Amino acid sequence: MKKNKFGKLGWTPERIGHLSGKTFVITGTTSGTGFEAAQILLSKGAKVVMLNRNLKKSETTINTLKQALGDNIEVLNIRMDLADQASVRKAAAEVLEKVSHIDALICNAAIAQVPTQKRTVDGFESQLGVNHYGHFTLQGMLFPRIEKSKGRIVTVGSMGYDMGLKTIKFDDMNWDKNYSANGAYSQSKLAQIMSIYELQDRLKNAGKTDVKAYACHPGSSRTSLIATSGSLMMRIIFGLMKLSPLTQSAEKGAYPQLMCATEKDLDQSDFYGPTGRSNWVGPVGAHKLEPHAKDKAVAERLWEVSEEATGLTWNI
Ligand SMILES: NC(=O)c1ccc[n+]([C@@H]2O[C@H](COP(=O)([O-])OP(=O)(O)OC[C@H]3O[C@@H](n4cnc5c(N)ncnc54)[C@H](OP(=O)(O)O)[C@@H]3O)[C@@H](O)[C@H]2O)c1
Repeated sequence: MKKNKFGKLGWTPERIGHLSGKTFVITGTTSGTGFEAAQILLSKGAKVVMLNRNLKKSETTINTLKQALGDNIEVLNIRMDLADQASVRKAAAEVLEKVSHIDALICNAAIAQVPTQKRTVDGFESQLGVNHYGHFTLQGMLFPRIEKSKGRIVTVGSMGYDMGLKTIKFDDMNWDKNYSANGAYSQSKLAQIMSIYELQDRLKNAGKTDVKAYACHPGSSRTSLIATSGSLMMRIIFGLMKLSPLTQSAEKGAYPQLMCATEKDLDQSDFYGPTGRSNWVGPVGAHKLEPHAKDKAVAERLWEVSEEATGLTWNI
């Protein structure tokens, strides 16, 4: 096991200095790790741009944050549904119009363990469409602004990358055959992580080393993830798990993405998350990533497939 460079307790938000003048764009802040990350960034003086699908929930979130931190926080919501490519493009255009500087884009939102095959507006299997293709388009559209800002792209993955098929099902991306809730979720999170390491290679080859890209995950955190999209059985299982020491608070689950968005001198080739039991809980730092997540041939093909599916060609 790698020695944790942040000591026995791992990385904590105490390491973040004052963030006034910095802007963070985060997807999915109405609950869970996204909410906690937004709260911590705002509490340090940052401006937070929230990209959420539900305007009413966003309004409630902003009110809750104002009650906790005061009315002076700098927070903006832009509506974006990751399940609809047109909505993602519209939201990205609005960000480009309203936000002149992006220190980090945190791709946090997701759905998980959807029990039956569902499709997004554009016909993609729902988890692949929301978690991977939605964020792929968002990242690509915001890239020029992030590059100008010498900013970062942070993807919130999952240890699920190492479950299921452990590769990309190129011959059946939408799981028309043998749909499996866990298989499709795991593949979508693997796709998100693989794209980050592929992006790093592309940036390096283009000499664009000012932009940094990081992959992390929140371990096993007590959030709304399974309650929002999982089956009754999964909700019962996760409900029981929440009572065990194999889970941690949503706040702790936010630490890896906060670390990747703010910490200096992080090695981009690493994978970041809790370093304790099964990487579900424990001190936050770099930990082992299985080689299939960096399979170059699969990653290159995934990038091409993603550009074709979304119609978004990255400008790098
Ligand atoms: N919790 C865990 O143990 C765990 C484990 C591994 C990985 N993760 C990852 O951690 C990240 C955060 O999840 P969480 O656990 O904090 O779950 P959560 O509490 O359910 O939060 C998910 C957020 O994503 C938003 N979202 C869902 N679908 C969306 C869409 N189509 N468009 C825009 N926003 C959408 C949700 O908005 P609504 O309020 O509108 O639903 C919510 O704000 C995810 O990437 C997840 O895969 C979590």
